[in-house]
Amino acid sequence: MENYLDVQEYIDEEKLKIIAHGIREGKIVLFPTETVYGIGTNGLNAEAVKKVYEIKGRNLKNPINLLVSSIDMVNMVAKDISNLEYKLMETFFPGPFTLILRRKPIVPNIVTAGTDTVGVRMPSGEIAKKLIEYANVPIAAPSANISGTPSGTTLEDILDDFSNKVDIMINGGKSDIGIESTIVKVIDGIPHILRPGAITVEQIKQVAGNVIVEDSKLPSKELKHYQLGVDSILVYGKNEKKVIDKINSMIKTYNFPILLTFSENKLKYNTTNIIDIGSKHNLEEISKNIFTKLRQAEKLHPDIIIIEGIEKKGLGLAIMNRLLNTCNGNYIKV
Ligand code: TXA
Ligand code: MG
Repeated sequence: MENYLDVQEYIDEEKLKIIAHGIREGKIVLFPTETVYGIGTNGLNAEAVKKVYEIKGRNLKNPINLLVSSIDMVNMVAKDISNLEYKLMETFFPGPFTLILRRKPIVPNIVTAGTDTVGVRMPSGEIAKKLIEYANVPIAAPSANISGTPSGTTLEDILDDFSNKVDIMINGGKSDIGIESTIVKVIDGIPHILRPGAITVEQIKQVAGNVIVEDSKLPSKELKHYQLGVDSILVYGKNEKKVIDKINSMIKTYNFPILLTFSENKLKYNTTNIIDIGSKHNLEEISKNIFTKLRQAEKLHPDIIIIEGIEKKGLGLAIMNRLLNTCNGNYIKV
């Protein structure tokens, strides 16, 4: 494929430079980051960013973050940055962390959805980093998925949705983290977590002393996220035996349920229609695989996907946030 570059084993720097130059010129590129794949273009080119909205079917009221490769680039697009905001960036950049700042006029309205703020993230993923450096402009890059569906964490998962719509696709294998960045906005001197991610509440608290988890302030709050084409339900609670009993009694009431559960619990259920999402003691593994596993379950066309939940602590908070969205708030807490 002419519009395809595989960087899993070898990174062809010359080809990356050509792709980055294309981004600068307004081409639309699918590329890996350490969180999820992004669909990106020159973040200062309104026409190109409009194409990204169109390809994703994204609501124009939902702003897009800019990916940057340096604090100089942050200063190019944002102003009036406070000491706490600098401290958060110094601590969590590069990485799975997006900070909402006050925008400068150079940022097109379409990127900020007409608001006076702009989200910035400095990815640590090697390919994303190089693309931004070589393009030498901030890259506007939402998650690579058709709006409302789970984010792409392997190229295979999103190939059919995008192969005819983007200019270039870069295959970097599986995303390391597997869920999108933590989004933070500092309001009245206190960091508010608008979307939980791999940078946890506890980590932000260590830097800022205080933190508020408040996803009701996210502009995309009203929109549907991570939806599947089949019904799903999340079952969770502190007492694992109760959770298992509840799920076992639910399983009986369906013709073809699929259960997403942990490696340790597989044999505790009276069904073999099981997808293993990893060890319950390894949240990184669960986070890395969760979107692919949800897509895998959907492809089997069950009457329902039952998901065993985890404690909303550390990375668990972010995983549960995605799962609750998938289930449309359809959950049972036992
Ligand atoms: O890890 C990530 O953040 C990935 C990778 C590709 O970088 N990107 C990502 O983008 O998840 P997206 O567009 O799928 O989610 C960004 C979220 C949206 O919910 C959007 O509403 C919010 O960030 N956002 C963007 N700009 C904002 C702003 N100026 N103020 C408040 N929220 C904003
Ligand atoms: Mg997204």
